[in-house]
Amino acid sequence: MIDQETVQRIFDAADILDVVSGFVNLKKRGANYVGLCPFHNEKTGSFNVSPARGIYKCFGCGKGGNAVNFIMEHEQLSYADALRYLAARYNIPVEEQALSEEQRRERGERESMLLVTAYAAEFFSGQLHGTDEGRNVALEYLRVRGIAPAMIEKFGLGYCPEARDALTASAMARGYKAEYLVKTGVCVEPERGVLDRFRGRVMFPVRDIAGKVIAFGGRTMSSDKKVAKYVNSPESEIYHKGRTLYGIYLAKRSVVQQDRCILVEGYTDVISLHAKGVENVVASSGTSLTVEQIRLIRRLTSNVTIIYDGDAAGIKASLRGIDLVLEEGLNARVLLLPEGEDPDSFARGRSSSELSEFIAANETDFISFKTKLLLKEAGSDPIERARLITDIVRSIAKIPDAITRSVYARETAARLEVEERVLHVEIVKLRQGRPGFEPAVRRQGVAPTVAVTTAGALSPCDLEERVLIRYLLLFGTLELYEEEAAEGAAGRPVSVGEFVIRELAEDELTLLNPVYNAIREEYGARHLSPGFIPARHFIAYPDERVSAVVADILSEPYELSRLWTRLESFVESEQMKLAEFLPKVIDNYKMRRVEMLTREADGRILELQEGGESAEIMEWIRRKQAIDRIRGRLSLKLGRTGVK
Ligand code: CTP
Ligand code: MN
Repeated sequence: MIDQETVQRIFDAADILDVVSGFVNLKKRGANYVGLCPFHNEKTGSFNVSPARGIYKCFGCGKGGNAVNFIMEHEQLSYADALRYLAARYNIPVEEQALSEEQRRERGERESMLLVTAYAAEFFSGQLHGTDEGRNVALEYLRVRGIAPAMIEKFGLGYCPEARDALTASAMARGYKAEYLVKTGVCVEPERGVLDRFRGRVMFPVRDIAGKVIAFGGRTMSSDKKVAKYVNSPESEIYHKGRTLYGIYLAKRSVVQQDRCILVEGYTDVISLHAKGVENVVASSGTSLTVEQIRLIRRLTSNVTIIYDGDAAGIKASLRGIDLVLEEGLNARVLLLPEGEDPDSFARGRSSSELSEFIAANETDFISFKTKLLLKEAGSDPIERARLITDIVRSIAKIPDAITRSVYARETAARLEVEERVLHVEIVKLRQGRPGFEPAVRRQGVAPTVAVTTAGALSPCDLEERVLIRYLLLFGTLELYEEEAAEGAAGRPVSVGEFVIRELAEDELTLLNPVYNAIREEYGARHLSPGFIPARHFIAYPDERVSAVVADILSEPYELSRLWTRLESFVESEQMKLAEFLPKVIDNYKMRRVEMLTREADGRILELQEGGESAEIMEWIRRKQAIDRIRGRLSLKLGRTGVK
C-alpha cells in the first residue's frame, strides 16, 4: 500500500479537472463542468465534474468517483496502479520496493534534476531582486520593457549574473551535484570545471503542466545582433521542447474555462497577454508546432486561436502547423495582427477590453484565412489558382470530422468559385488510401467497475448511516451551536462533526456498515487536529473502499432530497438548517437502531423461552427494558408517541 501522505500528495496534485480534461472535453456549467461521458456512448453531456468536490459523476451511466477512480476506470488500472500513474504524471515520488535497479535509478535521476531546476529558478529570482547587479541591469531592463512586477512574480522571472559560475557555486555549496547541474543544462562543462550556461541573461523558467520548472529560456539584454537573443535549456530527461508549451501551467484553468487556447510564438507574448488579463495563452517557443504540443492543448480544449505576427514570411512558415492542428481534430482560428506587430507589442498599446474585442472581432477560421491569403498571392493566374485549390483541399481533407469537412468544402467552393462537388471528389480521393486516417473509434467498452465490497448485506439503516457520513464529509467542520458555558465564560463552539461523533459515542453506537464505521472511527481520531478537511481527507484515503464510497456520497446530492422531504427540508437550505435537522437525523438513526435491537431482543427472548434458559432470559429482558427506555426518550424527542 502506498502511504497515506503520498496518497494525499497525489490527490492534491491530481486536480480532478486536470485529470478528466486529459480525456474529456469539458464545458463550464455553473460551478461544475459537463462533457460527453467517456464510459458510455452518448450524444448529450451527462458527465459532470465538480472541481470543488474533486469528483466526477455521469448521470447517464452512473459512473462516478474521484480523480483516481477516473483513471482506474478509464485506463483500466488497479487502485494502486492508478495512483502510480497519477504520481508519475505529477512528478510525485512513490517509494517502491518492486522496481528494478534501473527504474529506480532513472526515477531518482529525474527527481534530482527537478530539484536542481527548482533551485535554479529560486536562485535566479533571488539574483534579480536581491542583488545590485540584478536590480540595476535586469530588473531595469524588464521595467523599461514594461513588464509589470506582478508579471515578473507570476512567471517567476529571474536573472543569471555575469560571473562565470554564480549559480554553479551556489548550488554546489548547497550540495547539488555537478552531474545534475549539467544534465539539466543550467550549467555547462566545457573542458574543465562547470560553468553557468545563462550568464548575464534574464531568465524565463519553463514549467510543465503540473507547474514544475523543467527548463529555462535566457534572454540577452544586449541588442547586438551577433549575440543570440535566447539561450535555451537543452533537451534532457525532464525537458522535451517539442512536448512543452510555455505558459501551459498558468493557462490551463483559463483554457478550460474559455474553451479556447490562444497560441503565440514567444515568452514575452504570453506574458504581455497575461498582463492584460488574457490567460488562456501558451507559446510554442519559436519552434514549429508539434503533434505532441497540439495533443497537450487538446486535453484542455478543441479550439485553438493562433496569433501571428503580421509578416507574411512567418505566416506561411506556420501554415503547416495549422494543418497539424486540423489533423488532430481541433478547430483552428487565426488572428492576423497588423503588419509589424507581435502580440507583445500589440497588447502593450491597448486596454484589456480593446485587446479582447480585437481578438474576438478579427479571428477567422483557418480555411478562410488560408484561402484569402493564397488568393491574394495567386491573383488571376489560372495555374496558381489550381494549385491553391489543391492546397486548400488538402487542408480540408485532414479534418477528421465529416460534417466540419463538408461545411468547409461548401464555403471554400463559394469563395473560390468552383463547384462544391469537385471539391468533395478531391477530398474523398485524398482521404482514401490513407490508412488510419479516420479517427480512432471512441472507446465504448463499459468496463467492470471495481467491486466495492462492504461485508455482507446492507443493514436496514444503511441510508441513515450514509446520511450521517455525508454530514461529516460536507459539513463536519461547520459550527453547529455554541455549548453553554459556566456563568460569564464564553461558550465553546461545537462542530457538526464533533456533535455526530459525540452523540454516537454517548450511546456506544458503532455504524453497522463497516466502511461507514471506518470513516466514523478515523473521523473521531482526526477531527480535532487543525487543518483537517474531511472531504479532502477521505477522498484521498488509501483504502480504496473508503475513497470510493466517499466519492460516491459526495456526488449524489439529490439522493438526499427524498429523505429530507419527510422532514420537510430542501437540499438548498440543508446547510442553513443544520442545527435544526442534524439532531433529528441522529435521533432518527438511533431510533432505527433501537428498533433493530428491540426486534433482536424479542427474537432472543422467544428462542430462550423455548429452551427454558431462565438466567439468560432475565438478562435479555433487562436489556429490552433499557432499550425501551431509550426508545421512550427518543420518541419524545422525535415528537412521536411513546408506544408504537
Ligand atoms: N527563440 C529562441 N531563440 C532565439 C529566438 C527566439 O529560442 N534566438 C524563441 C523564444 O522562445 C522566443 C520565441 O522564439 O520567445 C519567439 O521569438 P521572438 O519573437 O524573437 O522573441 P520574443 O519572445 O518575442 O522576445 P522579445 O520580445 O524580447 O524580442
Ligand atoms: Mn517579441
